[in-house]
Amino acid sequence: MQKIVVAIDGYSGCGKSSTAKAVAKTLGYTYIDSGAMYRAATLHFLNNHVSLENPKDVSKYLSNLEISFHPNPDNGKQETYLNGINVEDEIRSMRVSEKVSEVSKIKEVRTELVAQQQRMGKKKAVVMDGRDIGTVVFPDAQLKVFMTADLQIRAERRQRELLEKGEMVDLESIIENLSERDRIDTTRAESPLRKAEDALELDTSFLEFGEQVERIAQWAKTKIGD
Ligand code: DC
Repeated sequence: MQKIVVAIDGYSGCGKSSTAKAVAKTLGYTYIDSGAMYRAATLHFLNNHVSLENPKDVSKYLSNLEISFHPNPDNGKQETYLNGINVEDEIRSMRVSEKVSEVSKIKEVRTELVAQQQRMGKKKAVVMDGRDIGTVVFPDAQLKVFMTADLQIRAERRQRELLEKGEMVDLESIIENLSERDRIDTTRAESPLRKAEDALELDTSFLEFGEQVERIAQWAKTKIGD
């Protein structure tokens, strides 16, 4: 059977990651969360007090940044590791969310992470989600999806997610964070977020989670069967 690359891009908080993960499971593919890689790089810079305005400092810390995804032995879930340490929860905190768009604007950071992502997707049979997957990382992906959702709905979903992890954040701050990230992501000079011409658009505002997974999995199966 033909193996394909499924590229899923879209705005912050559209449910890309959880949807992509479930699509990968349905297809028996590997899931790669490229946003987690930008988040892990951000945490690495924060922990080491790296000055983002200093290209030498950025390059130095990029060279000792090792990001990997493994199953967590406690719950069996695939989680993010930074230099061998599990950072899955820490990279989702507001502290990281507030800095990540700034880090992902840096050219050297994108060059390094895109190269790592391309290596991870070389053998195909991957579902990768992010902002530039269909436009820059895998411009030849056989299936490209562009996910959108209403800002208020996205913020409410994100608030529930943070609450489940024990972090209480008011809705206004989340709306501010999401719209600021949308603004930076779509206007930055380096690979701004945009819909690839050949991407299929999916508005998830009024879709149940299972429906959005099913929709993308069906598109993928059609491509695989082509
Ligand atoms: O998908 P996410 O919200 O976890 O992504 C975190 C940030 O990383 C997001 O604000 C933009 C950036 N990002 C990016 O620039 N390119 C990607 N391929 C993935 C994420």
